[in-house]
Amino acid sequence: MPTVVASDKLYSNSVNPQWVRLLDVLQMNVHFAHCEGAELFQSDGKRVLDFLSGYCVHNTGHNHPDIIAALHEELDRNGPVMLQSCVPELAGELASRLCAGAGGRLTKAHFTSSGSEGVEAAIKFARACTGRAGLLFADGAFHGLTCGALSLMGNEFWREGFGPFLPEARQIPFGDLESLDAELSTRKCAAFFLEAIQGEGGIRVPDGQYLEQAQALCRKYGSLFILDEVQTGLYRTGRFLAAQHFGLDPDMVILAKALSGGLVPVGAVLMTDDIYNSVYSSLHRAIIHTSTYSESTLAMRAGVATLDVLESERLGARALALGENLRQQLRETLAGYEMVKEVRGLGLFCGVEFQAPRHWTLRAPYETFKRIHPGMFGQMLVMNLFREKGILTQICGNNFQVLKVAPPLVVTEAQVDEFVRKLDEVVESVHASTTFWTEALGLARRMVNI
Ligand SMILES: Cc1ncc(COP(=O)(O)O)c(C=O)c1O
Repeated sequence: MPTVVASDKLYSNSVNPQWVRLLDVLQMNVHFAHCEGAELFQSDGKRVLDFLSGYCVHNTGHNHPDIIAALHEELDRNGPVMLQSCVPELAGELASRLCAGAGGRLTKAHFTSSGSEGVEAAIKFARACTGRAGLLFADGAFHGLTCGALSLMGNEFWREGFGPFLPEARQIPFGDLESLDAELSTRKCAAFFLEAIQGEGGIRVPDGQYLEQAQALCRKYGSLFILDEVQTGLYRTGRFLAAQHFGLDPDMVILAKALSGGLVPVGAVLMTDDIYNSVYSSLHRAIIHTSTYSESTLAMRAGVATLDVLESERLGARALALGENLRQQLRETLAGYEMVKEVRGLGLFCGVEFQAPRHWTLRAPYETFKRIHPGMFGQMLVMNLFREKGILTQICGNNFQVLKVAPPLVVTEAQVDEFVRKLDEVVESVHASTTFWTEALGLARRMVNI
């Protein structure tokens, strides 16, 4: 059983006891003393390889020394951190670099402190610009858990108990141009929100034609084409934006997560001048949409330092090359297993999809666990990888059959090889030994009894 330490007790008492219980049940409640690059070191000295990156936060690796040095420097100079009554020093520099990275018509940035806040801002900007209320989103989408962002997600698990949501938000199938056309043709839609590659939906990579035509339909009907690149942005897929793989020219792009270097919350919504000016349209409206900490000097400094590292270490090229290598190795190594359906992704944004086994000896326990909880099999994989192999991953939040594989972009070739070898060992044990399934049953009992 995990050691119950004082901080867990305090956290349980005054924050979220269910989170502590869940980590305990999964036997993943460990304490980390030190994190560096793609490695996490537990307080008992055990090393864990991070193939989750805090859901694509740690593109530059944990605690990158250059970003830490930049933040130290900022703190040491006792500068104007949060005056709210002057032009923030670094926001212009960060904005112009982000817009240059995005290219196309994106020439303005609005800063936020999270991805959800970026989605909220994009909803307001889209409505202000088009004078329309309607909002479209795809099934399987994950856009964040604040009320506006949650209105753009169809999964009942996240929504239950929190409604009513924005009544003008409508879900359409991912990849379906006919439904998109039908909704857009009402000319009531302000925008279509889309992840260029769906993350929590299961690392779903659409074909480029779908994306191009979705963009064209938005243009045709006067709706904005908004890409949520909160997970895929900042070189995760090899390019600054995933959109650039597909030659897209979106009206707005939402970034967050990796922009902070994992150290200070910061997000950004990039957009055209026209959209921006439709909100800040007069002197009277100069502060019509703001958020207290969004342009804080520490956040901006973290963003600039993070871009410096991403560029100077050429982490985009690295993500492309290592991602190809990772997928190729995974495809070769996992090819013989009947429960492995597909390995897919772009750059270091990968998914391994599992499927129900055909063979009855595996099918019986698999179906039993699925009945207890649809995510049970995936969670067992995650738990096994963590506890037995020292690898941190997760299953996708809206698709429990897909193991998300997204290491920091500074991951080494040797670490990629190690991951492939260890995943192979776990998948082997799923197919060949009863231990995996016996343990799964134990987990199921613990979850039911808790
Ligand atoms: C694609 C996407 N959009 C938005 C969000 C929300 O970001 P945040 O948790 O920073 O509010 C997430 C979070 O995982 C995400 O994956």
